[in-house]
Amino acid sequence: MATSALQGAPMPTTDDRTTSDGDLRLVGITKRFGRFTAVDDLDLTVPQGSFFALLGPSGCGKTTTLRMVAGLEQPTQGQVLLGDRDVTGTKPYQRPVNTVFQSYALFPHLDVFENVAFGLRRRRKKEVKADVDAVLELVQLEHLAKSKPGLLSGGQQQRVALARAIVNRPSVLLLDEPLGALDLKLRRQMQVELKRIQTEVGLTFVHVTHDQEEAMTMADTIAVMNGGRIEQMGSPTELYERPCTTFAANFLGQSNLIQATVTGTAGDDLLIDVHGQRVTLPRQRSTVTDGRLWLGVRPEKLRVAGPDDAGNRLTGIVTDASFIGVATYYLVRMPWGQELTVVQQNDGTPPLPPGEPLTVTWLPDHGFGLDATQDEHAGAEAIDPDAPAPAGAAR
Ligand SMILES: Nc1ncnc2c1ncn2[C@@H]1O[C@H](COP(=O)(O)OP(=O)(O)OP(=O)(O)O)[C@@H](O)[C@H]1O
Ligand SMILES: [Mg+2]
Repeated sequence: MATSALQGAPMPTTDDRTTSDGDLRLVGITKRFGRFTAVDDLDLTVPQGSFFALLGPSGCGKTTTLRMVAGLEQPTQGQVLLGDRDVTGTKPYQRPVNTVFQSYALFPHLDVFENVAFGLRRRRKKEVKADVDAVLELVQLEHLAKSKPGLLSGGQQQRVALARAIVNRPSVLLLDEPLGALDLKLRRQMQVELKRIQTEVGLTFVHVTHDQEEAMTMADTIAVMNGGRIEQMGSPTELYERPCTTFAANFLGQSNLIQATVTGTAGDDLLIDVHGQRVTLPRQRSTVTDGRLWLGVRPEKLRVAGPDDAGNRLTGIVTDASFIGVATYYLVRMPWGQELTVVQQNDGTPPLPPGEPLTVTWLPDHGFGLDATQDEHAGAEAIDPDAPAPAGAAR
């Protein structure tokens, strides 16, 4: 397998690259364009060898952040560190960083092999064949080594672009919406591919996307960005199961956010009033422990209640039921007027028709509590209408 040739291969010695690579750290990074702040006092650490995703809506500062890591943009304030090395003032070509953009910009007159070999030849590496062959095998393009880019499909061209970057064995590979030009099916395939490649070569990938499913599929850690800042950072499951802001709760998947009030405590639980109904929430699952809060529950965590179900309960009236085979998506109007989205896994029970009362239950451990002063719709309207439906979204 190509892996063996790449893994543990010595870093190139023909330029100023050192082995002091390691974690990528951004410390207090700010970028202003005139009076506009595109990136606002960002602190983040990307552990060496991890797959890190910067996820956020258009204009939130993702590309600007990447460009500062690459050295294509100078921060107004703050530092970029690679391991112990401060590279803030270093020229792009002196950084052990490579970037793959949405537009691949392959050399049309060079064949695939020479496109991939380009960086090595420019660094005057004498023996390029073994490295290029190994990386072409990794991206499964050995058979197209002699083809010109113009004859390749979008996905194949994207893999050449990737191979061309990986062959340089950068400490950090930056990917700015690299799959954006591909159709949905190919994009899904390439997501799996990219993750496989990253795992095999063990390089640090920093991947920029506004597609939450793409980020969740591939990344070890996701930083959710909004307005030049990081809203929340964590593993896909941490972010999904325990969002800390309404923006994160709505941008990553979908959430029911219910206006509620903490009325007391019982052991490790908060006692919560939801428009006259008592429910509970573990204290450590809430960013707020008294007064008003948004009580969040994901649509698939709400279940159509059976008679013996323990847990929190609320009853409403079905206003819409869409059977999609694996599940039924319900809208359930609560007595206070709010419609909750419920995704009920198909367990063989026929869907309840509109007009029927429906009691939903959920485990207290599946709820989360958020600051009531935040906009309940933050992040929901930011979702790209062309993007595929978020996981758990009602249609
Ligand atoms: N050179 C520049 N001069 C002025 N404003 C800029 C410049 N580059 C970026 N901006 C602004 O900074 C903000 C962040 O831009 P950036 O390209 O980083 O966003 P993004 O998160 O990558 O968005 P997208 O998902 O659309 O690519 C935007 O409002 C953009 O208009
Ligand atoms: Mg961008």
